[in-house]
Amino acid sequence: MVDQTRVVTAASELARNAYVHGGGGTLLIEYPRREGGNGLRLTISDNGPGIGDTDEVLADGFTTGGGLGHGLGGAKRLVDDFTLRSAPGQGTTVTVTRWAGP
Ligand SMILES: Nc1ncnc2c1ncn2[C@@H]1O[C@H](COP(=O)(O)OP(=O)(O)O)[C@@H](O)[C@H]1O
Ligand SMILES: [Mg+2]
Repeated sequence: MVDQTRVVTAASELARNAYVHGGGGTLLIEYPRREGGNGLRLTISDNGPGIGDTDEVLADGFTTGGGLGHGLGGAKRLVDDFTLRSAPGQGTTVTVTRWAGP
């Protein structure tokens, strides 16, 4: 009962990033439970060049790839929990969770 359009849109942007900027990667789908509801959690990982400044790349309009630069910031706004882990040479992992219920 998670509102799927939000999650699918975020997944699309993050998968695109893994493909375009990270050279391809993996997607893990989990269904976490917590008191008061269930969630949908996606973890998108790649072994690409990584990101030096993870705050900078979240700013709307920031791009190094000639895109629109709204992918990461947009994805963050579409989910409840957003974690970006990356470092130069270490690849990139983004985890997003959307919780169902009120
Ligand atoms: N998986 C990734 N690996 C390396 N760099 C990334 C990755 N995802 C995003 N980035 C960096 O963050 C910037 C912003 O990403 P995003 O907001 O999706 O905009 P866009 O993809 O349009 O450039 C990218 O231009 C790129 O520099
Ligand atoms: Mg993008």
